This record gives sequence, C-alpha cells and structure tokens, in this order.
Amino acid sequence: MPRLTTVLFSTCLMMAMPGAHAGGDASKGHARSAMMMAMPGAHAGGDASKGHARSAVCAACHGADGNSTNAMWPKLAGQHEAYLAKQLRDFRTGTRKDPGMSAMAAPLSDDDIANLAAYFSQQKPK
Ligand code: HEC
Repeated sequence: MPRLTTVLFSTCLMMAMPGAHAGGDASKGHARSAMMMAMPGAHAGGDASKGHARSAVCAACHGADGNSTNAMWPKLAGQHEAYLAKQLRDFRTGTRKDPGMSAMAAPLSDDDIANLAAYFSQQKPK
C-alpha cells in the first residue's frame, strides 16, 4: 500500500519537527531538527535571536547582554543553558521563589524559556 506509507512517512516527519511551521526559517528548522535527532530526550536548544528579542524586559536588572553591573542581580551571561532554563522553569512553577523573578517568569512559555536560556548562555561574561 504505497499511499498509506507516504501518509505515515509525512506524519512522522511533522511529529519530528515541532519547531517547523509555515513562515518559519527553514535553515533554523533544519538546525533544530538535527539537534533534536542528535539528542533524543535532551532539551531541544533555544533560538538565541528570539531570546534576544524577548530579553528587553530582563535587561533592566540583568543587563542587556546578561552582565548585570548591580550586585543585587545575578549575571546570566555565559551561564549554562540548561541551568538557566531550569531556573526559569523553577521560578515559573514556584519551586524557586523570588518576588521579582517569579513575576518575570510567570508569563514565559516553554519556547520563551528555551530561547532566553540560549541567548544568555551565548553572551560573553564580563
Ligand atoms: C526586577 C529585576 C529583574 C528582572 C526584570 C528580571 N530578573 Fe531575573 N533575577 C532577578 C533577581 C533579584 C534574581 C535572583 C533571585 C534570587 O535571589 O533567587 C534573578 C535571577 C534570575 C535567574 C537565576 C540566575 C542564577 O544564577 O540562578 C535567571 C535565569 C533569571 N533571573 C532570568 C531572567 C530573565 C530571563 C528575565 C527576563 C524575562 C529576568 N530574569 C528579569 C531580578 C530580575
């Protein structure tokens, strides 16, 4: 049944690439899908440029590139991506609590968190 095989195959492809959608950047989708295939079960890895766009509100405390100059606020630049993502998820669920950060993390989606973690982890600590 060649037709059924074709349908099954394209369905599998779509499931394998949840990041791909109409209007997306195919090269990024490709990079992302390769990464997901290489690391099944590991987090997919965020899109740093999207994280940058989302980070304007974070800059007030953490600095535009994650290099906070105020000792009240931690530096995020160069921190491990998986660690940053975990902290943001923990703030969002309330596992980790801070009056300011819990409010900042509450509206973030899983994609926002992955993208922000990718962006800040790729900045150079100063
Ligand atoms: C109002 C100031 C403020 C803003 C705005 C803010 N943060 Fe924070 N952030 C903090 C403080 C204060 C802490 C330390 C909290 C603590 O002591 O547990 C923190 C901690 C963190 C941590 C954990 C760092 C570590 O080393 O454990 C991450 C990750 C983080 N913020 C990401 C973000 C992101 C992403 C945004 C933007 C969506 C953001 N923050 C916006 C004040 C802020």
